[in-house]
Amino acid sequence: MGLIDFHCHVLPGVDDGVKDLEASKVQFAAYREAGFDRVVFTPHVYNPYVRSRIDLFRERAAVASATAKDYGLETWLGCELFVGSQPELKAIPIMGKFALCEFDRFLQPQMLLERLQRLSDKGFTIVLAHVERFLWFSPDCELVAPLRAMGALFQVNVEGVESGAAVPWLERRLADLIATDNHGDASLPGRLREQVGNWPYLLKRMECLHP
Ligand SMILES: [Fe+2]
Repeated sequence: MGLIDFHCHVLPGVDDGVKDLEASKVQFAAYREAGFDRVVFTPHVYNPYVRSRIDLFRERAAVASATAKDYGLETWLGCELFVGSQPELKAIPIMGKFALCEFDRFLQPQMLLERLQRLSDKGFTIVLAHVERFLWFSPDCELVAPLRAMGALFQVNVEGVESGAAVPWLERRLADLIATDNHGDASLPGRLREQVGNWPYLLKRMECLHP
Protein backbone atom coordinates (compact mmCIF):
# COMPACT_ATOMS: atom_id res chain seq x y z
CA MET A 1 0.00 0.00 0.00
CA GLY A 2 1.16 3.52 -0.70
CA LEU A 3 1.04 6.55 1.54
CA ILE A 4 -1.92 8.66 2.57
CA ASP A 5 -2.23 12.43 2.89
CA PHE A 6 -4.96 12.99 5.43
CA HIS A 7 -5.07 16.81 5.37
CA CYS A 8 -4.86 18.99 2.27
CA HIS A 9 -6.59 21.71 0.31
CA VAL A 10 -6.35 20.37 -3.24
CA LEU A 11 -10.10 20.24 -3.86
CA PRO A 12 -10.37 22.96 -6.52
CA GLY A 13 -11.98 26.35 -6.03
CA VAL A 14 -13.66 25.88 -2.67
CA ASP A 15 -11.36 27.55 -0.13
CA ASP A 16 -7.89 29.10 0.03
CA GLY A 17 -6.37 25.98 -1.54
CA VAL A 18 -5.89 25.22 -5.23
CA LYS A 19 -7.91 27.35 -7.62
CA ASP A 20 -9.01 25.00 -10.38
CA LEU A 21 -8.93 21.43 -11.61
CA GLU A 22 -5.76 22.00 -13.63
CA ALA A 23 -4.00 23.02 -10.42
CA SER A 24 -5.43 19.93 -8.69
CA LYS A 25 -3.96 17.76 -11.45
CA VAL A 26 -0.49 19.16 -10.76
CA GLN A 27 -0.90 18.09 -7.15
CA PHE A 28 -2.31 14.67 -8.05
CA ALA A 29 0.71 14.04 -10.27
CA ALA A 30 3.01 15.03 -7.41
CA TYR A 31 1.23 12.62 -5.05
CA ARG A 32 1.52 9.80 -7.51
CA GLU A 33 5.16 10.58 -8.17
CA ALA A 34 5.89 10.45 -4.42
CA GLY A 35 4.22 7.07 -3.98
CA PHE A 36 0.82 8.05 -2.57
CA ASP A 37 -2.35 6.16 -3.32
CA ARG A 38 -4.80 7.94 -0.99
CA VAL A 39 -5.67 11.61 -0.44
CA VAL A 40 -8.30 13.13 1.82
CA PHE A 41 -9.77 16.47 0.72
CA THR A 42 -10.17 18.63 3.83
CA PRO A 43 -11.43 22.07 2.79
CA HIS A 44 -11.93 24.60 5.57
CA VAL A 45 -15.32 25.00 7.24
CA TYR A 46 -16.20 27.70 9.80
CA ASN A 47 -12.71 29.19 9.58
CA PRO A 48 -13.25 32.92 10.18
CA TYR A 49 -10.28 33.83 7.99
CA VAL A 50 -11.22 31.76 4.95
CA ARG A 51 -14.20 31.98 2.63
CA SER A 52 -15.42 28.46 1.91
CA ARG A 53 -17.85 27.33 -0.77
CA ILE A 54 -19.47 24.53 1.19
CA ASP A 55 -22.26 24.47 -1.40
CA LEU A 56 -19.72 23.34 -4.02
CA PHE A 57 -17.87 20.70 -1.98
CA ARG A 58 -19.76 17.66 -3.20
CA GLU A 59 -19.87 18.44 -6.90
CA ARG A 60 -16.20 19.50 -6.94
CA ALA A 61 -15.28 16.35 -5.00
CA ALA A 62 -17.10 14.15 -7.52
CA VAL A 63 -15.11 15.64 -10.40
CA ALA A 64 -11.80 15.79 -8.51
CA SER A 65 -12.22 12.22 -7.29
CA ALA A 66 -12.81 10.89 -10.79
CA THR A 67 -9.79 12.85 -12.04
CA ALA A 68 -7.60 11.65 -9.15
CA LYS A 69 -8.40 8.05 -10.11
CA ASP A 70 -6.53 8.61 -13.36
CA TYR A 71 -3.49 9.28 -11.19
CA GLY A 72 -3.99 6.10 -9.16
CA LEU A 73 -5.37 7.98 -6.17
CA GLU A 74 -8.32 7.03 -4.04
CA THR A 75 -9.83 10.13 -2.44
CA TRP A 76 -12.34 11.05 0.23
CA LEU A 77 -14.20 14.26 0.96
CA GLY A 78 -13.95 15.52 4.51
CA CYS A 79 -13.34 18.95 5.97
CA GLU A 80 -11.13 20.85 8.37
CA LEU A 81 -13.53 22.09 10.99
CA PHE A 82 -12.60 25.30 12.76
CA VAL A 83 -13.73 24.99 16.35
CA GLY A 84 -14.67 28.54 17.28
CA SER A 85 -17.69 29.62 19.26
CA GLN A 86 -20.36 28.04 17.06
CA PRO A 87 -23.07 26.39 19.21
CA GLU A 88 -22.79 22.98 17.62
CA LEU A 89 -19.83 21.30 15.94
CA LYS A 90 -20.73 19.85 12.57
CA ALA A 91 -18.15 18.09 10.44
CA ILE A 92 -18.15 16.12 7.22
CA PRO A 93 -17.06 12.71 8.47
CA ILE A 94 -13.84 11.58 6.79
CA MET A 95 -14.23 7.91 5.77
CA GLY A 96 -17.46 7.92 7.72
CA LYS A 97 -15.82 8.53 11.09
CA PHE A 98 -12.94 11.00 11.45
CA ALA A 99 -13.40 14.70 12.25
CA LEU A 100 -10.36 16.88 11.52
CA CYS A 101 -10.46 19.92 13.85
CA GLU A 102 -8.45 23.12 13.93
CA PHE A 103 -8.47 25.98 16.43
CA ASP A 104 -7.40 29.53 16.99
CA ARG A 105 -3.65 29.74 17.18
CA PHE A 106 -3.54 31.97 20.23
CA LEU A 107 -6.65 31.26 22.31
CA GLN A 108 -7.86 27.94 23.60
CA PRO A 109 -11.54 27.59 22.70
CA GLN A 110 -13.92 27.68 25.64
CA MET A 111 -15.32 24.35 26.82
CA LEU A 112 -12.99 22.60 24.40
CA LEU A 113 -13.05 19.15 26.01
CA GLU A 114 -16.81 19.17 26.53
CA ARG A 115 -17.45 20.19 22.94
CA LEU A 116 -15.08 17.68 21.43
CA GLN A 117 -16.54 15.01 23.70
CA ARG A 118 -19.98 15.73 22.27
CA LEU A 119 -18.57 15.28 18.76
CA SER A 120 -16.90 12.07 19.87
CA ASP A 121 -20.18 10.86 21.41
CA LYS A 122 -21.75 11.20 17.96
CA GLY A 123 -19.33 8.52 16.78
CA PHE A 124 -16.49 10.68 15.43
CA THR A 125 -12.81 9.97 16.00
CA ILE A 126 -11.37 13.43 16.59
CA VAL A 127 -8.16 14.33 14.74
CA LEU A 128 -6.48 17.52 15.92
CA ALA A 129 -4.90 19.28 12.94
CA HIS A 130 -1.31 20.60 13.16
CA VAL A 131 -1.05 20.40 16.95
CA GLU A 132 2.36 22.07 16.88
CA ARG A 133 0.78 25.32 15.75
CA PHE A 134 -1.35 26.18 18.80
CA LEU A 135 0.44 28.28 21.36
CA TRP A 136 -1.88 27.07 24.15
CA PHE A 137 -1.15 23.41 23.44
CA SER A 138 1.97 21.30 23.98
CA PRO A 139 2.92 17.70 24.75
CA ASP A 140 2.93 18.65 28.47
CA CYS A 141 -0.45 20.36 28.37
CA GLU A 142 -3.08 19.01 30.78
CA LEU A 143 -5.48 18.66 27.83
CA VAL A 144 -3.40 15.85 26.31
CA ALA A 145 -4.49 13.05 28.68
CA PRO A 146 -8.25 13.66 28.45
CA LEU A 147 -8.01 14.03 24.68
CA ARG A 148 -6.14 10.72 24.46
CA ALA A 149 -8.78 9.13 26.71
CA MET A 150 -11.36 10.37 24.21
CA GLY A 151 -9.46 8.56 21.47
CA ALA A 152 -8.30 11.77 19.78
CA LEU A 153 -5.45 11.58 17.28
CA PHE A 154 -2.81 14.27 16.86
CA GLN A 155 -1.70 15.38 13.39
CA VAL A 156 1.46 17.37 12.67
CA ASN A 157 2.33 19.21 9.46
CA VAL A 158 5.33 18.42 7.26
CA GLU A 159 6.47 22.02 7.66
CA GLY A 160 6.17 21.72 11.44
CA VAL A 161 8.41 18.66 11.39
CA GLU A 162 10.94 20.38 9.13
CA SER A 163 11.04 23.48 11.32
CA GLY A 164 11.39 21.42 14.49
CA ALA A 165 8.16 22.70 16.06
CA ALA A 166 6.48 19.28 15.79
CA VAL A 167 9.51 17.24 16.84
CA PRO A 168 8.63 17.11 20.58
CA TRP A 169 5.30 15.54 19.60
CA LEU A 170 7.09 12.92 17.52
CA GLU A 171 9.83 12.21 20.06
CA ARG A 172 7.21 11.44 22.69
CA ARG A 173 5.23 9.33 20.21
CA LEU A 174 2.25 11.65 20.68
CA ALA A 175 1.95 12.47 16.99
CA ASP A 176 -0.17 9.91 15.15
CA LEU A 177 0.21 11.20 11.63
CA ILE A 178 2.06 13.70 9.50
CA ALA A 179 0.12 15.41 6.71
CA THR A 180 0.89 18.14 4.21
CA ASP A 181 -1.91 20.70 4.77
CA ASN A 182 -1.11 21.28 1.11
CA HIS A 183 -2.59 24.48 -0.34
CA GLY A 184 -0.91 24.04 -3.73
CA ASP A 185 2.78 23.27 -3.19
CA ALA A 186 3.73 20.27 -5.31
CA SER A 187 6.91 19.70 -3.32
CA LEU A 188 4.92 18.71 -0.23
CA PRO A 189 3.98 15.10 -1.11
CA GLY A 190 7.67 14.19 -1.55
CA ARG A 191 8.55 15.99 1.68
CA LEU A 192 5.80 14.11 3.52
CA ARG A 193 7.18 10.83 2.24
CA GLU A 194 10.62 11.78 3.49
CA GLN A 195 9.42 12.78 6.97
CA VAL A 196 7.31 9.65 7.45
CA GLY A 197 10.46 7.71 6.56
CA ASN A 198 12.31 9.59 9.32
CA TRP A 199 9.70 8.52 11.90
CA PRO A 200 8.95 4.87 11.07
CA TYR A 201 6.73 4.33 14.13
CA LEU A 202 4.13 6.37 12.27
CA LEU A 203 3.67 3.80 9.52
CA LYS A 204 1.71 1.47 11.80
CA ARG A 205 -0.41 4.29 13.16
CA MET A 206 -1.15 5.71 9.73
CA GLU A 207 -2.36 2.27 8.64
CA CYS A 208 -5.30 2.85 11.00
CA LEU A 209 -6.53 5.70 8.82
CA HIS A 210 -9.00 3.71 6.79
CA PRO A 211 -12.80 3.49 6.60
FE1 LIG B 1 -5.56 22.84 6.65
